[in-house]
Amino acid sequence: MTTKLKQRSSDQSTEKAKEHAILDPQFYTTDYDALDRLDMSPVRKEWDQLMSEFERDSNIDHFDPGAEFERPLESIPEAAREEFLQFLISSLTSEFSGCILYSNIRKNVKNPDIARLMGYMARDESRHANFINRALKGFGMGVDLSRLSKEKKYKYFKPKYIYYATYLSEKIGYARYITIFRQLERNPENRFHPIYEYFEQWCNDEFRHGEAFALLMHANPKLLKGYNKLWIKFFVQAVYATMYVRDHKRLNLHAALGLNTTEYDYKVFQITSACAEQIFPLSLDIDHPAFRAGLERLRRISDAGDAVKKKGGLFGGTRRALYMIMGAATFARMYLIPSKRNELQAEVRMAPAW
Ligand SMILES: [Fe+2]
Ligand SMILES: [Fe+2]
Repeated sequence: MTTKLKQRSSDQSTEKAKEHAILDPQFYTTDYDALDRLDMSPVRKEWDQLMSEFERDSNIDHFDPGAEFERPLESIPEAAREEFLQFLISSLTSEFSGCILYSNIRKNVKNPDIARLMGYMARDESRHANFINRALKGFGMGVDLSRLSKEKKYKYFKPKYIYYATYLSEKIGYARYITIFRQLERNPENRFHPIYEYFEQWCNDEFRHGEAFALLMHANPKLLKGYNKLWIKFFVQAVYATMYVRDHKRLNLHAALGLNTTEYDYKVFQITSACAEQIFPLSLDIDHPAFRAGLERLRRISDAGDAVKKKGGLFGGTRRALYMIMGAATFARMYLIPSKRNELQAEVRMAPAW
């Protein structure tokens, strides 16, 4: 196993990053004219404050690991090695996908507020992606980012889907990084790679990115009313379900960090939901027994689908299609669980208090 992993070239890491298409973030494009029409004047004071925070760039010197990332793969606990690499590659893909989206928006919009924000966010995500790549390069397994952006498929996404999905992915990114950081603060013996020491300040970047999208939606409240609420509920559920299914394929990695995957995921949902109360008119009932049972069923269906894919065979395709239908039906039933209503807040901004 060790020799096999060591031999994996940087090309293979790039291929792996390209494969992260179904569960992991894609690369997106959107309708730039709609972004030009966004008006930030209702939140001008808070917006300008946030922009000066971005401008101060407090993390400018943070992502500089020096030689500490140069280490043999054998320094990672054997049981968690493969999953740790998958974690690095999928995190890199998602940081880089944010970077590409934000820098494409910056290049294509005329709205000065949006262009300025996207410039800062692209700066941060590019830094994050390169930082993870430094960790991979430390094992001799870096990903070729320029090739990745050229070859990975781009998908069109309506602007409002971008606002909901990006807001959520920033806040969930914050919740994930801070939960792991706090766990390792309590249990430093489980910190098997120095990258984890960087998570606290790193996640403050993600938190701030989420704040910008919260202000953007608050300034344009149509996005939070009427049938848009159905979209919000859909995106929250989709993001939570995706995370739950994917994380449960990395039980060994979480065990090495001293985490139980299910407990970790619910902690992340809890933090994300507490954040999202600042802007979303509804929260999912994450403690509802039918919600918990639904996520477990989605996990089992996904595992069964993976097993069929591995096995192949004559009816493999049919069986996988069947699992997809079962997954969609489970997702739809979960969607019917009543959500909790949130009152619209006068003050949107909040502090990263976790
Ligand atoms: Fe990031
Ligand atoms: Fe971010």
